[in-house]
Amino acid sequence: MSHILVTGGAGFIGANFVLDWLRQEDADGVVNVDKLTYAGNRKSLTAVALDARHVFSQTDICDSAAVTALLKSYRPRAVVHFAAESHVDRSILSPGDFVQTNVVGTFRLLESVLDYWQVLDAPERTAFRFLHVSTDEVFGSLAPADMPFTEASRYQPNSPYSASKAASDHMVRAYHHTYGLPVLITNCANNYGPFQFPEKLIARMITSALAGEPLPVYGDGFQVRDWLYVGDHCAAIREILARGRPGETYNVGGWNEKINLEVVQALCDLLDELRPRTSGSYRSQIAFVDDRPGHDRRYAVDASKLARELGWKPAETFESGLRKTVQWYLQNPEWVKDVLSGEYRNWVGKQYVE
Ligand code: NAD
Ligand code: TYD
Repeated sequence: MSHILVTGGAGFIGANFVLDWLRQEDADGVVNVDKLTYAGNRKSLTAVALDARHVFSQTDICDSAAVTALLKSYRPRAVVHFAAESHVDRSILSPGDFVQTNVVGTFRLLESVLDYWQVLDAPERTAFRFLHVSTDEVFGSLAPADMPFTEASRYQPNSPYSASKAASDHMVRAYHHTYGLPVLITNCANNYGPFQFPEKLIARMITSALAGEPLPVYGDGFQVRDWLYVGDHCAAIREILARGRPGETYNVGGWNEKINLEVVQALCDLLDELRPRTSGSYRSQIAFVDDRPGHDRRYAVDASKLARELGWKPAETFESGLRKTVQWYLQNPEWVKDVLSGEYRNWVGKQYVE
């Protein structure tokens, strides 16, 4: 069976990608390489725990010997690289972890993949792809009247997270230009949807609202983010992997700019409808708190290259995606409970290979 190798496939977007991938008929097998940091959750992969096409390996991407052994055993036709430290607030507290995984880890992965790729047969070498999943945050912050980020926007990262992702993007680009590795880079807007760890805005607000806790809005709450439903991001990655041009970068976004406070209020209103409190609205739990240091004011993504070249556009509107997301959290209280209690870290599923 042919395989793809996915890094970070127990995280939020990676797990959604693996689940969506294996739902396709005739999908290649997936070698899922994840260190299982606090953000990795094997419970998100329960639906494929008994699927022989899914091989899970608890491996750090910095461990070149282990990654090389997996490449040799499974001979993947592509690598899709999600693994990263991904939360801005944590990067402010512990930037070193971000340099280690996002910069050093991506470099080590590139070294292992290049060695593997260079000795493939010519047709396999031509067909091979290394797809690096990155963020719009590498482009910095926009003023209210600025045009959305395009692929030509200048890199101006402001947080340790975005700076470490920018560095990794540059290494990936360099491996294409210097060694000819067939890479693809995606820079995506903020994602939301099922299986998101409740440290990011939307997942945190839903879980805190249901727990009766305050909903902390940073600063004035008027920062703007461009939101994309995770399933649409996964579909874009599949398209780019199949038909993207090696060496190119693609912006991925939902054309969905929203003010944070509006997002939080919309979530409260959905919860008022779907799981009403005994009295009053969830909006009464909103609490303005100190702003994040160096808080980027606005992100917005121009995804027209992806639409023009590959015909991709998001299937969900913000309203439909948000409703699906709230419904998912309401229908999966066990997943939420295990994440909030930390129990998910003790769970070892079946098909635990390495
Ligand atoms: P996440 O934090 O939910 O998951 C990251 C996964 O990577 C976890 O399973 C973790 O265990 C794993 N990991 C971390 N360090 C590792 C290491 N050294 N070796 C192997 N595995 C390791 O992140 P996410 O939100 O799913 O984001 C995935 C990717 O998409 C990241 O590269 C991120 O920068 C990018 N991205 C995220 C968003 C977003 O809104 N979440 C938007 C654009 C781009
Ligand atoms: P986040 O989900 O952390 O993503 P990013 O910082 O990568 O965009 O935050 C999204 C926005 O929501 C950001 O402007 C910070 C804000 N925010 C809050 O106001 N309160 C919160 O509790 C969190 C987690 C985020």
